[in-house]
Amino acid sequence: MRTDRPPGFGCALRGIGQGLGKLLLCGEHAVVYGHPAIAFAVDRATRVTLERTEHATTLIGAVEDDRLRDAVRAAVPPEGWRVHIASDLPIGRGMGSSAALAVALVRARAHLDGESLGPDQVFDRAIPVERVFHGNPSGVDVAISARGGFLRYRREDGAPRIEPIRRRPRWRVVALDSGEVGNTAVLVDYVAARRSKLDPILAQIGALVDRAFEVLDAPDSLGPLLTENHALLRALGVSNPRLDELVAMAIDSGAWGAKLAGAGGGGVVIALVDDPEPLLRVASQRGISAFACAPAEETP
Ligand code: PMV
Repeated sequence: MRTDRPPGFGCALRGIGQGLGKLLLCGEHAVVYGHPAIAFAVDRATRVTLERTEHATTLIGAVEDDRLRDAVRAAVPPEGWRVHIASDLPIGRGMGSSAALAVALVRARAHLDGESLGPDQVFDRAIPVERVFHGNPSGVDVAISARGGFLRYRREDGAPRIEPIRRRPRWRVVALDSGEVGNTAVLVDYVAARRSKLDPILAQIGALVDRAFEVLDAPDSLGPLLTENHALLRALGVSNPRLDELVAMAIDSGAWGAKLAGAGGGGVVIALVDDPEPLLRVASQRGISAFACAPAEETP
């Protein structure tokens, strides 16, 4: 870790940190209640640079937002800082933008302090920052953002159980952007308020994730499980007509299966494919923003 102290500016400091974005292959919402989820990091990230200033703390490169200010306050020393935030992660698209920001802030702060943190320490420090954005995060977004790679995650008695997945499947994922923003806090609260009615569906999602884990190398078996996961998310009430339409479009275009990813209410649909090109072509013809990705090595 390097800490810059520019000459002539006694206590000037600079810290840099990064947090990766993610996609959930399956298990969203159920993971908040102790069921498992499977996640992988995407090659998109949020980067934070902290620079000392003699003035009040200012955010640069970010839309003004109370929760963002609170998150910075939770992660950064109270003195004056210029907080530069740069991200190629779309906000509210189910790709873990708030967790990536929390991880980037924690890493920038540690860099500033000359501390070298392992992923577990980053996780412990980033969870309270993520909580500023939504009150009861499962932690899966922060875990994958801090580690990168591909993992199975579950919260047991409040403690995270993180199991890296070393298998590198041959399938690819195409993410199709609905163009709509989902609000994770609102959707998590929506499910929480209907727990007694929705618990059986959450348990079905948990059981589905266990089945998916057994067939991670077989897209012909895994794909239909993704589509089943989407139907269960619909039954929870977190999908919408645009997301359902994108799932149908992906399957009509030859995907093995598809589902919304993240909290829902907007964001992306992910489709499991052998070759991303045909679906990317269909998406482009219909003016839908899309990109291909796949589980990768741990590269936080
Ligand atoms: O919408 P995102 O990218 O923040 O994903 C939320 C995933 C949930 O399972 C709905 C919430 C959580 O904390 O795991």
